[in-house]
Amino acid sequence: MKIVVIGGTGLIGSKLVNKLREHGHEAVAAAPNTGVNTVTGEGLAEVLKGASVVVDVSNSPSWEDAAVLKFFETSTRNLLTYGAAAGVGHHVALSVVGTQLLAESGYFRAKIAQEKLIKESSIPYSIVHATQFFEFLKGLADISTDGNKVRLPPVFFQPMAADDVASAMGRIAVGPPVNGTVEIGGPEQFRMDELVRRRLALLKDPPEVIADPNARYAGAKIGDKTLVPGNNARLGETTFETWLAHSAGTGLAA
Ligand SMILES: NC(=O)c1ccc[n+]([C@@H]2O[C@H](COP(=O)([O-])OP(=O)(O)OC[C@H]3O[C@@H](n4cnc5c(N)ncnc54)[C@H](OP(=O)(O)O)[C@@H]3O)[C@@H](O)[C@H]2O)c1
Repeated sequence: MKIVVIGGTGLIGSKLVNKLREHGHEAVAAAPNTGVNTVTGEGLAEVLKGASVVVDVSNSPSWEDAAVLKFFETSTRNLLTYGAAAGVGHHVALSVVGTQLLAESGYFRAKIAQEKLIKESSIPYSIVHATQFFEFLKGLADISTDGNKVRLPPVFFQPMAADDVASAMGRIAVGPPVNGTVEIGGPEQFRMDELVRRRLALLKDPPEVIADPNARYAGAKIGDKTLVPGNNARLGETTFETWLAHSAGTGLAA
C-alpha cells in the first residue's frame, strides 16, 4: 500500500516512515527537502499519484498566530484538494489532546481550523489526538520561559514517547478510517511542572521551574484535566524513565 507521510522528515514522520517500510508498505516521506511543499502545492500531485493513504504529521515552521493559522489552513486545503483528485481513501492527521478546549492559543486555533477542514472534506479520515511528546518537554519549557524562570501550571498531563506516537499512527494509517478522533497518550500521569523540572535537571545549568496556577500553556489558560486523554485512549508503553534511559547520550543535556 502506498502511504504518503507529509512531514515525513520530522520527529514523528521519520519514525513513522521507517515503521511502515518495516511492515512492507511503500512509505514516501514528503517535505520541502524531498520536493513536496504543501503550502505552495509544489510536488503534491506527483507524490499523491497512486497513494491510498495520506498521513499528515507536518508542523508549521512558525508558531506566530497568523503564520501558524495560514500554514495549517493552506496546507490542509491543498492536501485535501489534491488528495481527492488523486483518489486518496484515508486522510490521517496528528493533532493534540484537548485541542478543542484551547482556542485561546493561536497555535491551537490553527489546529482547530485544520481539524474542521478535514471533517468537512469528502475524504474518509482519522484524526489522532496525542498528548505531549517526551521529546517536547524542553520545548515546552522554552515557550513557558518568563525572564530566567519557567512558569508552568501544575496541571495533570500524560506525555508519551515519539516512538509510541509513530507506532500508533502507523496502526491507524493501515486500518480503516474512523471518521472521528482517536486519543493516544502515555502510560503515566504527572504534574506538568514536576516532569518539566525533572527533564530540565539534565541540563548543565537548569532554569528554575515555578508552579504557577495562572501560567498559560501555549497562550491558553488550562484546567487540571484539559491535557489528559479520556478513558478510551490507547496508551503507549514507554515510561518516562525508560525513555530517559534510551535517550541518554543523545544530547539531552544540551
Ligand atoms: N510536540 C508535541 O508534543 C505534540 C503533541 C501532539 C501532537 N503534535 C503534533 O505533531 C505534529 C508533528 O510534530 P513534530 O514535532 O513531529 O514536527 P517536526 O519534527 O517539527 O516536523 C515537521 C515536519 O513538517 C515538515 N514541513 C514543514 N513545512 C512543510 C511544508 N510546507 N510542506 C510539507 N512539509 C512541511 C517539515 O519538513 P522540513 O524539516 O523539511 O521543514 C518536517 O518534516 C504537529 O502537527 C503537532 O501539532 C505535537
